[in-house]
Amino acid sequence: MLSTRFTELFGVEHPIAQGGMQWVGRAELVAAVANAGALGFLTALTQPTPEDLTKEIARTRELTDKPFGVNLTILPSINPPPYEEYRQAIVESGVKIVETAGFNPVEHLPSFQDAGIRVVHKCTSVRHAVKAQSIGVDAVSIDGFECAGHPGEDDIPGLVLIPAAADKITIPMLASGGFADARGLVAALALGADGINMGTRFLCTQEAPVHQRVKEQMVAATERDTELIFRPLRNTARVASNEVSRKVVEILDGGGQFEDVRELVAGTRGRKVFEDGDLDAGIWSSGMVQGLITDIPSVAELVDRIVTEASDLIQARLAGLTR
Ligand SMILES: Cc1cc2nc3c(=O)[nH]c(=O)nc-3n(C[C@H](O)[C@H](O)[C@H](O)COP(=O)(O)O)c2cc1C
Repeated sequence: MLSTRFTELFGVEHPIAQGGMQWVGRAELVAAVANAGALGFLTALTQPTPEDLTKEIARTRELTDKPFGVNLTILPSINPPPYEEYRQAIVESGVKIVETAGFNPVEHLPSFQDAGIRVVHKCTSVRHAVKAQSIGVDAVSIDGFECAGHPGEDDIPGLVLIPAAADKITIPMLASGGFADARGLVAALALGADGINMGTRFLCTQEAPVHQRVKEQMVAATERDTELIFRPLRNTARVASNEVSRKVVEILDGGGQFEDVRELVAGTRGRKVFEDGDLDAGIWSSGMVQGLITDIPSVAELVDRIVTEASDLIQARLAGLTR
């Protein structure tokens, strides 16, 4: 058993979180993570309406009596989703943990705090983590360049980003991006984090609600098989390398604009990948850490393996190095 400020603050057994994942962060996965003693987050915007989110929270509660949270991804857009209504649905549901990401969560904090909700803000730079700490979030999760989804534009890998953040952050901190096993967890703790947040590794578990072919593709893929799309638009996203993501890179590198790739990157196409297992139907997020993934375990097997091997690593291998 590994006890850290993260496990204490959020009342979970293990210092492991499953961050919000569009299309994937649903009741089945989040409940499995909670039942395994880690902290899972439902992804609010995967639900088409705030009412659907309320139902998904209730569905999760039917599957677990352990703590879990909700991810609210705030992305500035021309037609933004009704964030306040999603926030209200979270508050009224009685969920006590929220992961915010994508943008400064300051306008949402008072409502969450009034409801006694603990907020972990996920960001991709030391300066944003410092900012989040200064506005009163309870914890930060800091995503290195390796991560699936949005790594930001600074390109600082976790090996530098995590200790650099640890030097400035006094609240509990999760290391995110590139973690999949006990070695990563122990390294994160050594770098100054209080636990790890994983996306890609949880996507490749039995309970992740995505087609088996996606999981098999992740096992087959190496650490080199991701693409950074939207680089020239300064809205970089790391996704699995496939026909569509390579085409998007080619068009934008060739001077194309968002309009030229809009249809290729449509969320409905990405969803088809997960639902139908058509791996070239659209873009789908996956991180470099897929190169370390060699199996499709249950969530319980995965979490148990990580924490058991981490304890062994600390007590046997590392302790054995000291004289
Ligand atoms: C399929 C997928 C979808 C994701 N969608 C979101 C999202 O909607 N909101 C968010 O904050 N992070 C999202 N992420 C990022 C994860 O929460 C997490 O920060 C990231 O995966 C960590 O890096 P790793 O994949 O190397 O573990 C997504 C990741 C994956 C793999």
